[in-house]
Amino acid sequence: MKGVILAGGLGTRLRPLTLVTNKHLLPVFDEPMIHYPIECLIKAGIDEVLVVTGGEHAGDFLRLLKNGKHLGLSDLHYTYQEGEGGIADALLLAEDFAEGGRICVVLGDNLIQGTIRSSVERFLAQPSGARLLLKEVPDPERFGVPRFENEQIVEIHEKPTQPPSPFAVTGIYMYDQDVFRMANTLSPSERGELEITDVNNMYLQRGDLQYDTLEGWWSDAGTFQSLHHASNLVAQTGANNDADELISGQRSKGLEDGK
Ligand code: DAU
Repeated sequence: MKGVILAGGLGTRLRPLTLVTNKHLLPVFDEPMIHYPIECLIKAGIDEVLVVTGGEHAGDFLRLLKNGKHLGLSDLHYTYQEGEGGIADALLLAEDFAEGGRICVVLGDNLIQGTIRSSVERFLAQPSGARLLLKEVPDPERFGVPRFENEQIVEIHEKPTQPPSPFAVTGIYMYDQDVFRMANTLSPSERGELEITDVNNMYLQRGDLQYDTLEGWWSDAGTFQSLHHASNLVAQTGANNDADELISGQRSKGLEDGK
């Protein structure tokens, strides 16, 4: 399976820092932010990666990441997103790279404590569909939030004012080849973006979405507060640690049912 890291967008919430470089190149403790999703994929056995970036400082990625070999990647590809059309808009740029295969997508500003290896294995054992990673958080209204019925996700709400559960949909998504067909049917949301939550809801509608729950910490780093928080977490425990027990598969309803 190939990996896609979405590192486009303009990072306006981190201005003035993002006036001089791309958000995903800012430091999280002792490394540039983009190193963490790369390491996350490598630890899951995924070493062929496409980075989707954008904005005025896209060239900075080449200076840092080069061909990715020194980081443990076998192949590193780049592409450029015009504007800030949303996560699903950025993902559409990965269609040729995916070559009809499955992909693991990681948002460039997402960091985790453990590895996603066991979740990737479960996804590869699924006959089709999508797989998400959830994390219980104190502020679900900042994220995509699942609504459950009998431990099954029935719907995902993007940044709901009244969250239907205390879980966030993290920025780690696994998809089969149908993701591009689905993303191509989207219309921009109220905030003018092609929403990845709409894609995930399409997989739900066809009954083909599974999930695991992260037990270790998870953080985004897209605001000053979360960037600071993520730096502290990395300083305290490190990130991408080999600890499969940090993912709980018990909530993967459907897998037990043989779906
Ligand atoms: O962090 C997880 C959350 O990420 C999910 O719970 C939400 O459902 C999902 O919509 C997203 O929420 P945010 O509003 O926090 O996403 P943000 O706009 O901060 O973008 C996150 C990353 O996605 C960003 O670091 C780079 C990439 N991105 C984003 C946009 C809008 C792109 O590559 N291109 C884009 O146009």
